[in-house]
Amino acid sequence: MLTVAVLISGTGSNLRALLEAAAEPGFPARVVVVGADREADGLAHAEAFGIPTFLVPFREHASREAWGEELDRQLRVWTPDLVVLSGLMRLLPASVVDAWSPRLINTHPAYLPEFPGAHGVRDALAAGVAQTGASVIVVDNGVDSGPILAQERVAVRADDTEHTLHERIKPVERRLLIDVVRAIADGELELAAASMS
Ligand code: GAR
Repeated sequence: MLTVAVLISGTGSNLRALLEAAAEPGFPARVVVVGADREADGLAHAEAFGIPTFLVPFREHASREAWGEELDRQLRVWTPDLVVLSGLMRLLPASVVDAWSPRLINTHPAYLPEFPGAHGVRDALAAGVAQTGASVIVVDNGVDSGPILAQERVAVRADDTEHTLHERIKPVERRLLIDVVRAIADGELELAAASMS
């Protein structure tokens, strides 16, 4: 059974979908802990599933490195096989990336390498593209620049707002994330190999 830690900053709807998938009999992974960099609403999903949580408030640390050190310490308590960033809206310091990658993956609401960064949906709308997408990647020391594990296109509608477009992207992200976690757990997807290709 693949053990997974999930890190969030927000509502955690993708986390919720992963928790629901992992609760299905036969799913080859389970979430062992959920962490956040702030009092994220999504922590309630973990609590509803009886999953332990931890909080490492970014603002209470003197530097990104100090925050990352504590985050890393908390993760190590649970020795997860995989760490999933599911809406963690902070860049991890290199020490954390180096410690966990390639067993560190991220979901992103755009078709990378298009529209990396914190505003993937807003940036796609501003660019006026006809389609954007969703991606699951291995985290490296760049901004959303790691190896792509799965991605899918989502059409942009003429009347889309950032909210409506994001709400159509998220179900795609959820499906990709669950498929990627399952494939890693089943040994069909080798993260070390994906990181070298
Ligand atoms: C998701 O769309 C995720 O890809 C995005 O935040 C959202 C979190 O939604 N992450 C990023 O943009 C990271 N650059 P959720 O809290 O409802 O799961």
